[in-house]
Amino acid sequence: MGFTDRHLLGIEHLSPLAITEILDLADSYVALNRAPSKHADALRGLTQVNMFFENSTRTQASFELAGKRLGADVMNMSMQTSSIKKGETLIDTAMTLNAMRPDLLVVRHPHAGSVALLAQKVTCAVLNAGDGRHEHPTQALLDALTIRRRKGRLHRLSIAICGDIAHSRVARSNIMLLGKMENRVRLVGPPTLMPSGVADLGVEVYDDMREGLRDVDVVMMLRLQKERMDGGFIPSEREFFHRYGLDHEKLAHAKEDAIVMHPAPMNRGVEIDGDLADDINRSVIQEQVEMGVAVRMAAMDLLARNARAAAREGVMA
Ligand code: NCD
Repeated sequence: MGFTDRHLLGIEHLSPLAITEILDLADSYVALNRAPSKHADALRGLTQVNMFFENSTRTQASFELAGKRLGADVMNMSMQTSSIKKGETLIDTAMTLNAMRPDLLVVRHPHAGSVALLAQKVTCAVLNAGDGRHEHPTQALLDALTIRRRKGRLHRLSIAICGDIAHSRVARSNIMLLGKMENRVRLVGPPTLMPSGVADLGVEVYDDMREGLRDVDVVMMLRLQKERMDGGFIPSEREFFHRYGLDHEKLAHAKEDAIVMHPAPMNRGVEIDGDLADDINRSVIQEQVEMGVAVRMAAMDLLARNARAAAREGVMA
């Protein structure tokens, strides 16, 4: 089965075929986005609302552009984190918005599971743009598209995900996606930044960076998520960079053509050396941003198609 879901809440329940379908369509949107005229009308007449209860630069901007390029009416609601009161506000706000009949609701929220809860309450398609440390499906999909285009395939690759894995929804979604597509995933970082239950994830775990990077095809760095830490996870940023910060010397242990990824925002000099992040021979960080727009176009296009198919079936039933 391809991607037939009503919502995009996570990678966890996607089949390899569904993932491939999203990526294939995204490839065609990369071509559109590189053309002088970037308009298509897959979402024409539809309303997209972006609700971000956490800060975002790239994700929000790219969902907005994606919707506009496909002809949707896009509204951005910037929700102040300070005004959230224990989830009730989220559901209330969603119900209010739902009454305005949007077709696509893009939601980022600091609580794991909140976006799935919201999806049960509304009648439109919901896309998870990051829920706490749980999932960030469009990030994993854009990372997958970047890897597939650079490496020519998305299977039988060795991929090291490095740094603050415990607090990272990007890592969680990527571990699931890359595992489903039959890659070898390694997690590299200090034991304090490994998630609990790491043994059940089907990955190899390293606390030595040089060993962890040996012969990998892809090095995926993560931001040290200080806002999700309550102290004591790392000795100091200097020490962290010394042991786990990616620089040319540590990267030399990976394959010669290994690519360097980071979801951004980056802490230069903490998890990654600034010069390496800008090295266009190794770093694909800007390409990830480009792929982000195309993947979000594909995801919203497919959700709109699924909603139309469901409506047709409803009429026929
Ligand atoms: C990530 C996020 O918000 O989870 N950023 C992003 O979406 N590009 C990663 C991060 O914040 O470190």
